[in-house]
Amino acid sequence: MTDAVTGGSEAAKVAVIGAGYVGLTTAVVLAHLGHDVCCGEIDAAKVEQLNRGRPTIFEGGLEPLLAEGLASGRLRFVTGAAAAVADARFVFLCVPTPQYHDGSADVRELGAAAREIAPHLVNGAIVVNKSTVPVGSATLIERLLRRRDVPVVSNPEFLREGTAIEDCLHPDRVVVGSDDREAAAQVAGLFRNLGAPTIVTDAATAETIKYAANAFLATKLSFVNAVATLCEHLGASVGDVLLGLGYDHRIGFEYLKPGPGWGGSCLPKDTRALLYMAERSGYEFPLLREVIETNEAQLQSVVDKIRLVAGRPLADANVAVWGLSFKAGTDDRRRSPAVEIVQRLVASGAQVRVYDPSVTGPAPDIPEEVELLGDAYLACKGADVVAVLTDWEVFTRLDLARVRQLMTSARMVDARNHLDPAAVRAAGFDYLGLGNP
Ligand SMILES: NC(=O)c1ccc[n+]([C@@H]2O[C@H](COP(=O)([O-])OP(=O)(O)OC[C@H]3O[C@@H](n4cnc5c(N)ncnc54)[C@H](O)[C@@H]3O)[C@@H](O)[C@H]2O)c1
Repeated sequence: MTDAVTGGSEAAKVAVIGAGYVGLTTAVVLAHLGHDVCCGEIDAAKVEQLNRGRPTIFEGGLEPLLAEGLASGRLRFVTGAAAAVADARFVFLCVPTPQYHDGSADVRELGAAAREIAPHLVNGAIVVNKSTVPVGSATLIERLLRRRDVPVVSNPEFLREGTAIEDCLHPDRVVVGSDDREAAAQVAGLFRNLGAPTIVTDAATAETIKYAANAFLATKLSFVNAVATLCEHLGASVGDVLLGLGYDHRIGFEYLKPGPGWGGSCLPKDTRALLYMAERSGYEFPLLREVIETNEAQLQSVVDKIRLVAGRPLADANVAVWGLSFKAGTDDRRRSPAVEIVQRLVASGAQVRVYDPSVTGPAPDIPEEVELLGDAYLACKGADVVAVLTDWEVFTRLDLARVRQLMTSARMVDARNHLDPAAVRAAGFDYLGLGNP
């Protein structure tokens, strides 16, 4: 079923549909690898901004690669999908596949993009699903294209927001799957110079790999959060427990840190979509259901800790929050645990003031009762408790004596175990992290 692919690759004409986290990263990286890339994006304002060399998302290393691609003439942005595919040999679909109301993945935007490009594809073009798509989507897109000469290949993306460029330049593996193996091998060839292990397989297997990978990561995170809770019950210290686990190379340190729950644009929707697919196929997947429920409980346990440490009902509490993005290094707040916790605090009647270094403009996703402040100190003015919800490095460098002076009482809940508890306590705070006696 699998081939190892190595060696050099030839420059190709490539279209990328969608200039979001995945599409924009794919476009700049493929141009960097020497391919001729035209990226078609439906949002004309994004197209204009990108053609001026200004990134539309917050990702380290993106700006120089964007500049390099534009300067070399190997990268350009156009409005709409059809305009991008005119002479492309490979067409990467990188459009959203959000959660549908029944938990399944909503493939309507993917279908719309396929229908739009179908009449404009050159003979023998290869369409590549890079979006995370339910098993069977390669076949679905083939049907929608109605082009017998155009094979569809699944090439799931594994980048992490915050390190998207780095992850695309140095992937742990490349997965390509199609019932047309020759087409799959050609797509693999585009990435050959990255030197990553490459799995060439059938479409359903490639599509399953992506969901299984995200479900495994969610499982690891829920497990760690459950171990942290267990430590609180047993009087053990989660930090040392996780050191003892992480040094075991079968377990490893990645994704081995307790937090307020996993979130972001992928894990929540992809675990739900996999559960939906599993159930439809006749397998209940109770383990995955429990992983999702453990995550729900984790969010609520952070809210409960904030109430406990504030020492008063949330309806009477002033809460300062540090961090809104779903993790440090990105401005993405889609399904961010921090946002969900803020929503629960507001729903309980708390006064909430927030600072996040990535928020520079209006934030329509944040309840209007919440005050967004321009720095971490201002957010703490008059607060009964400060909650650390995102692990931005800047939070470890704040003057805690100054924070303490601004608050009505010096209390902190660190839902990321991000600050040094000894330093926080030495500054006069009541400090509660996760997983400690
Ligand atoms: N964000 C991640 O970390 C990540 C990682 C791996 C996989 N994925 C998957 O990749 C896919 C895309 O995710 P994303 O985070 O990049 O989404 P995104 O919302 O950041 O970007 C999608 C872009 O596609 C554009 N678009 C939508 N329809 C279009 C059309 N018909 N023609 C042209 N442009 C169109 C949108 O305007 C938007 O700019 C999803 O399936 C997601 O699950 C995301």
